Order: sequence, then structure tokens, then C-alpha cells
Amino acid sequence: MKITYLGHAGLSIEVAGKNLIVDPFISPNPLAKDIDIEVLEADYILITHAHQDHIVDVDAIAKRTGAKIISNFEIVTHYGNLGFEGHPMNHGGSWQFEFGRVTYTNAIHTSSFPDGSYGGQPGGFLLETDEGNIYIAGDTALTFDMKLIPMQCKLDFAVLPIGDNFTMGYESAVIAAEFIECDKIMGYHYDTFGYIEIDHAKAKNAFSSAGKELILLPIGDSVEV
Ligand code: NI
Ligand code: MN
Repeated sequence: MKITYLGHAGLSIEVAGKNLIVDPFISPNPLAKDIDIEVLEADYILITHAHQDHIVDVDAIAKRTGAKIISNFEIVTHYGNLGFEGHPMNHGGSWQFEFGRVTYTNAIHTSSFPDGSYGGQPGGFLLETDEGNIYIAGDTALTFDMKLIPMQCKLDFAVLPIGDNFTMGYESAVIAAEFIECDKIMGYHYDTFGYIEIDHAKAKNAFSSAGKELILLPIGDSVEV
């Protein structure tokens, strides 16, 4: 499995010969100016919640690629009304896709669309695949529900928000890493806006002091799981 950072909370994942895009927020993000959304491949687009900083490029990518949208019921209904194909889920539910099993996990956050309309409840994704198991937390506070994840599967890798203010910060993310029993963490949802700028050295040190690794990928770079 290859995970590429698209900036903010955006990921591109290659697994089982399929391409997954998660929460694309690229075209308005000056930090992601080197990512060309016109060439991103996508068989599926996973959306954790309806906030603008997670959906802004969904329409363009879905229209060009015909990718199927995986998200909560309300978000998939919203895109279905626009003519896009989707697979609706809700918290705690799993579905076996051709690339692996997806579970829509709990997140503590909000989920309105940019126009204020209801975007269902926010979530994250647990992906269980033949190439490894990963957890993408979405925008969330530290929550005790994270302890449920290692009861379902042994994680190889996790992506956690670390930018603070709108989500948990890196200190809480260290505790989250303990809750999910995972030592290899990629941080996301940081530095994009003034509210979520972080000190990279302090964040990495907080993880290494707990015997864990925090990966802060430059935008466009990839990690193999
Ligand atoms: Ni959000
Ligand atoms: Mn966000």
C-alpha cells in the first residue's frame, strides 16, 4: 500500500491495484500548488465529513474519473443528487470493497456542507486490506472510542489530525496512538491555516518520547505501508 500526502487532510492511497482519494482540498491550498488534480487517479473517493476543507475538489475529481464516493449516508445522498455514484455508510458499519474492508468509524466533530446544509455525522475510516490495515481518523477530538479499533484489527499505520484548535493536537494524538495501539503515525490537518500551525520538532519529539514515530510528509511525498 502506498499513501501519498495531498496536503491538509488529503490522501491518495494505492492498494490492491485501486486508487483511493481521501478528503481532497487541493485547488484552494497554496501549500499544495504542486499537486495537479487533473492527473490524480481515483476509483474511489472517501469523504470523512462535509466541511469545505475536505470536499472542495470532490466534484472535479469524481466528474473526470467516475470515482465512486464512499461516505456517510447524507454526503453520498448529496452527491447522488448531483449525479455521482456512491456507497453510503454509517458509524460502525463495514463493507467489503474490491480493495478491502472499510469501516466508518466514530469521530467527534461537526459536518455541515459549506452552505450550512446537513452533512450527516462526521467519521473516519478503518481500511483492512491484504496490504495492511490502516486507520484514517478524520477530523476528531481524542475519543475513548478509539480503543475499539484494536479490538477489530491490528493496525499497521494510522493517520491522525495533529493541528489542534479544530481537532485534537499532537499531545492528544500521542494518547490516541496509544488507544489504537499503533506506533507508526502520519500527522495531517496541520499548518494549512494560521489556527493549526504547529512546531514540527515539538510534535515529533512528543511521539518519540512515547516510543512512537510521527511522520510529517512533505506534500506530494509518499510512504509505503
Ligand atoms: Ni472539519
Ligand atoms: Mn477540517
